[in-house]
Amino acid sequence: MPPPNADDTPASVRYNARPYLHGPETAAIAAAMEAGQYGHGPQADLFESELAAYLGVPDVVAVSSATTGIHLALMACGVAPGDEVIVPSQTFAATIQPIVALGAFPRFIDHHPDTLCIEPEAVREAITPATRAVLPVLYGGRPVDLGSIAPELEHRGIHVVEDAAQAFGPRRVTGRATTVYSFGPIKQLTALVGGAIVPRTTDQANALRRMRALGITSSQTQRIQTTTYTVDGPGLRGVLPDVNAAVGRVQLARFDTVAARRAALWKAYAHALHGTPDVSLVDVGVVGDGTVPFNCVVRVPDRDRVHRTMRERGIGVGVHYPPNHLQPAFARWTRPLPVTERVAGEILSLPFHPAMTPDDSRWTATALLEALTATTA
Ligand SMILES: Cc1ncc(COP(=O)(O)O)c(C=O)c1O
Repeated sequence: MPPPNADDTPASVRYNARPYLHGPETAAIAAAMEAGQYGHGPQADLFESELAAYLGVPDVVAVSSATTGIHLALMACGVAPGDEVIVPSQTFAATIQPIVALGAFPRFIDHHPDTLCIEPEAVREAITPATRAVLPVLYGGRPVDLGSIAPELEHRGIHVVEDAAQAFGPRRVTGRATTVYSFGPIKQLTALVGGAIVPRTTDQANALRRMRALGITSSQTQRIQTTTYTVDGPGLRGVLPDVNAAVGRVQLARFDTVAARRAALWKAYAHALHGTPDVSLVDVGVVGDGTVPFNCVVRVPDRDRVHRTMRERGIGVGVHYPPNHLQPAFARWTRPLPVTERVAGEILSLPFHPAMTPDDSRWTATALLEALTATTA
């Protein structure tokens, strides 16, 4: 393989992530627009039942984004002002803002440096009398198993809301958590923007459906046939529009292609980087058996220089994410998190999206090794 330079960087490797369309999405958008139903309508109903069938769960509630989904799920779990929500700092700000919006506060905890996911023991140690929920983030698509502390959480009335924004795939849902997926632009499955919640119970599903529609108890179809409606509690404007659901349906029907492409890319990276001193691949779990990788993140020394060197070659590397406990908006709740703070200076997201080929992964791995040699020389 020739050494990389700025001119021979493959086109797809110039992006860190990109939406992947199969083709029929455009026609599906046009059909949904012509049908004239722009809010939650028949496409969203079908998308919900198709998602439930795919995931093997009784019900799914479609929402306008994962951020709104997390907000709604926390509301449905009764999270209120003054409550504490245990959450990793190493995540997108979208995980944290809904906690703060509810007047609750984030109790930031460290992750495991190999996975960037939280561990049951760290959760257990962080529990206080104010803890109302735990919000694990399935970083990169990796499942987070809190089974060993599930009885204790249950006993204390602590809810688990999974931020599975990066983890859509044929994963077995345990039933112990309320799970929130994202269908944003670069996610495994895109609805342009959008999200979905797997509720724990029928009561919770009903509450989520009410709350995503401003707390109104009747559906839109029921509402137009009567002269009034009832608002019986808090709510957000959080339905998934039919146009977005129509795109999601096209994507879901073809999801196996995306899952296979992502798995092949990840394995090509893992193989090319295996045994390389100075490069640790963040472990996303068993690829091909439940995990559809969202990204490929490595930990490297001298990360900022490696990042700069690769960017200068036109390679779409990124950093996901600067930790939240060090952000000004969340300064009130900051605390020392030594693992997160150390690892935050090491992580580098390599280009990863389904339009790439395994050769592109191998090419990028070579470019990474070159950048490391250049910066450590
Ligand atoms: C970990 C994590 N949580 C939450 C979100 C928010 O998802 P959405 O864009 O659907 O609101 C994202 C997506 O960017 C994410 O990566």
